[in-house]
Amino acid sequence: MPTGSRTSQYKKLGGRKEHTVFNRVLLLLFWRFLRECRSSIFLFLTQGKGLSFGTGRFVPWKGVAKKMKRKVIIDCDPGIDDSLAIMLAVSMEEISVAGITVVCGNCPVSMGTANVKKILRYMNRLDIPVFAGEEKPVKREYADALDTHGSDGLGESFLPNVEGYEQDLGAVEFLEHALLKEPCSVIALGPLTNLARLLQKSPEAFERIEEIVSMGGSFGSRGNCSPVAEYNYWADPDGASMVYEAAEKFGKKIYMVGLDVTRNIVLTPDMLEYMKRLKPAAGEFVQRITKFYFDFHWQQEHLLGCVINDPLAVAYFADRSLCKGFEAYTQVETEGISRGQTVVDFTPEEYENGLLREHNKDALCFPKGTAGSLTGVNFYGKRANSKVLIHTNPLGFFQLFFSRILGVKEAELDLLPKLVKETSYEKSSIN
Ligand code: BDR
Ligand code: CA
Repeated sequence: MPTGSRTSQYKKLGGRKEHTVFNRVLLLLFWRFLRECRSSIFLFLTQGKGLSFGTGRFVPWKGVAKKMKRKVIIDCDPGIDDSLAIMLAVSMEEISVAGITVVCGNCPVSMGTANVKKILRYMNRLDIPVFAGEEKPVKREYADALDTHGSDGLGESFLPNVEGYEQDLGAVEFLEHALLKEPCSVIALGPLTNLARLLQKSPEAFERIEEIVSMGGSFGSRGNCSPVAEYNYWADPDGASMVYEAAEKFGKKIYMVGLDVTRNIVLTPDMLEYMKRLKPAAGEFVQRITKFYFDFHWQQEHLLGCVINDPLAVAYFADRSLCKGFEAYTQVETEGISRGQTVVDFTPEEYENGLLREHNKDALCFPKGTAGSLTGVNFYGKRANSKVLIHTNPLGFFQLFFSRILGVKEAELDLLPKLVKETSYEKSSIN
C-alpha cells in the first residue's frame, strides 16, 4: 500500500493514472448530484426569468436535457398547423409525446387520425400511439374547417394513407388510463371536446393533468371565425366552457395561446424558400402541406404568408420565454352571436403589473387606471383559471421551429432575423 500525502502517492503511482481515477470519481459524484436535483434544475431553467430552455440558447448539458423530458399528450385536429405542431413536438428532446389524441375540428376524426399517422410516418415516429376521439362537439352540430385546411384536411397534399397502427382505446379512454397511471400535461390544439368528455367521465383523471396549454381564444385581438370568436372555442363552446370552469374548480391555470399571440407567427414564402435551401426534402414537405394554407390566406386576407397557430403552443410548452401574459378568470360564452368568445376578467393587481397596462395604453376603457379605480375589472371575483398570453417573440419561435424541424443549429440560421422582421400579421395585412 502506498503511504504519505496524496501528492506523494500521485508521484509514486506515476501521477497521470491516479489523477485520471480521481477525476472520474469527482465526475461520478457530480453526475449523481445532477441526477438528484434534475427536476429543480429543470424548473429553474424553464420557468426562470431570463433563461430559456429549448431554443438552444442555453442548454448546459445535452445528456441532462434528454433525461428531463416532460411527458405530454397532444390533443389535436390535423389540420395543417396541427401537423406542423406535431412535427415540432416529436423533434424536441425536451418533450416526450406519450400519445396523440384526435378530436373533430378542422376535419372529421377519421380524417384527422389518418393525417396524424401520415405526419408520424414522415417523421419516422409511428411508435407514438394515435387515438381517435369525439366525433361531435358536446352539444352542437359539428362544423369542419376544410375550407381552410383543404378537402383532405392536410392542404390537399393527398399523402398516401398509413395502414394499420389502430388502437383499441378511444381518445378519452386513453387520456383516462394514461393520467390515472401517471400525471402528465396536455397540449390541446383543437376544440376542447375530448377534454370535456374526460372531465365528465373521470374528473379524477382530469385533475391529474399537470398543465393544459390550449391554442384557442382571443383577448384583445378579433376573432377568426366570428367577429369575436376564435375557431377552436367557437366550434365547441360548451366543451371549452366546461374545461375552463373545471380549471377554476380544481385550481388549475390553462395557458391560453390565443390569436393575440399566434397572429404574429406568420410563415412567409421567403421563409419557406429558406427552409428548402437549408434542407430541401423537409422544406418541400412543409411546402406540400402548407400550399393550400398560403392560398387561403391570400384569398381571404390578402396576406403573403400563413398564420401557423398551433406550433406556438408546443413551443411555449417547452420554452416559457416565448410568450408573456397575465393571469385572469376566463370563461367561454356559449350562446348567441358571441358564441365562443373568451370573456377575460383580471384583477387590478394584474393590470398594475405593467404588461396589461402597456397593452391597453391606447384603449379608451382604461384612461389612467390605477388599482381600485378600474371599472369592469375583477367583476366576477373568481380566482384565476388561466394565463392569457398577449406578447410573443416571433424570432425566438422561428429559431426553435426551423432548428428542430430541419435539424440545423440556431447559429446557422443567419437569414432568419431579417426574414422574421416585419412579418407580424397586423403589419402585413393592414399596412
Ligand atoms: C385554430 O383553428 C384551426 O383551424 C387551427 O388548426 C388552429 O388550431 C386557429 O383558430
Ligand atoms: Ca388545430
